[in-house]
Amino acid sequence: MVKWANYIAKRYESLLVLRPRILRLSGNARYLTTKTKKHLNFISNDYLGLSTNTEIVEAFNMAANVYGLGSTGAPTLSGYTEEHDLLSSEIASWLGFNRCLLFNSGFQLNVGIYSQLVDSDTMLWLDRNCHASHIDGILLSKAKFSSFTDANIDSMIDKIKLQTDKRHLILTEGSFSMDGTCSYLNKLLQLKKSSPDNVLLIIDDAHGVGALGENGFGTLEQLGLQTNDIDLFIGTFGKAFGTHGGFICGNENLIEYLQQSVRSQIYSTNLPPSIAAATRKSLEIIKSDEGRALRKRLRNNISYFSSLTDKNSPNFTNYQNGIYNQSPIQLLIFSDSNQLDAIHTRLFDNNILVGKIKYPTVPKDKPRLRISLNALQPNQDLDFLIEQINSMDNIL
Ligand SMILES: Cc1ncc(COP(=O)(O)O)c(C=O)c1O
Repeated sequence: MVKWANYIAKRYESLLVLRPRILRLSGNARYLTTKTKKHLNFISNDYLGLSTNTEIVEAFNMAANVYGLGSTGAPTLSGYTEEHDLLSSEIASWLGFNRCLLFNSGFQLNVGIYSQLVDSDTMLWLDRNCHASHIDGILLSKAKFSSFTDANIDSMIDKIKLQTDKRHLILTEGSFSMDGTCSYLNKLLQLKKSSPDNVLLIIDDAHGVGALGENGFGTLEQLGLQTNDIDLFIGTFGKAFGTHGGFICGNENLIEYLQQSVRSQIYSTNLPPSIAAATRKSLEIIKSDEGRALRKRLRNNISYFSSLTDKNSPNFTNYQNGIYNQSPIQLLIFSDSNQLDAIHTRLFDNNILVGKIKYPTVPKDKPRLRISLNALQPNQDLDFLIEQINSMDNIL
């Protein structure tokens, strides 16, 4: 095992799963084209179909003509432009926070912040379904942490209320990337109201912001909840915004501190200015009547999709602890990965791309199809998808 080649071969063999990549040649919200086929797209996070919006592409091109392609440096060197400055203030004021800090990606953000927020007196609580970027960031920070689920949220809250001599950091997501809508956000907001000084609440709404709620504020708005009591609100531009990058909003002191301390932001070449400009245009659309209309179409697709499925189906999880999964991410959970493989292959053969998610991304006994809905899918595409799934084995 001294030789690198042997060591890497051994490590490779021990990987739990090998994930193929799909080589895409072109695409939009409805279709993705590969070398051999044109597929119905139920796999991307382009929830409003903005990744191919011509106005956004034009904004990108115009800024590239002014600034060039790369940002040319970290934000404290030459990498911070007026486009970045305007984008961060526009996002903060849109979401009702004092300040916003941009990152190259949501992953880079999540992997960087925890080391700067916790110490040995901090107790960190994270939902077990949180994204890998949070888990890696927390492991890097060496924080003490406990994981929870919707099933034991009440006992976690009770423990936090009792431990008033500790600082608590609670982390969850608005819409989980592999599980849909979070069911207990109201409970965390109530906790924040009753014990504001020693509890810091972080909500990552990467899959909700822009896509959900009347104004696009995300999952909380969709559930009729306010964002005021959240300390740090995280989002990404790579999903509903159709562009790229991550952002975190909060009060002036917290964000100033993160700006001065988070190494994954300080020591990385900043987002390209043209991406910031494109994202500003995307935000303009998200705030406009066009954005409202797109969100309405997405909402209709989410309801239409669940109307096509049998509510009693053991595979379809559109209710979790009484909360209807209103996210664009719909799940069909199987107990057996052979059945999942067979359905996935059948869909692929019928030109439908959906996510196939297995352990270690989700628990071993709950492999699943991850079906991403977007605003631009016509009903007939959803009908076809369900028809194909059901033709296997009356699954739904
Ligand atoms: C909840 C959540 N946070 C963060 C990320 C990472 O964001 P990005 O793709 O911008 O790195 C993801 C990615 O899917 C996610 O689901």
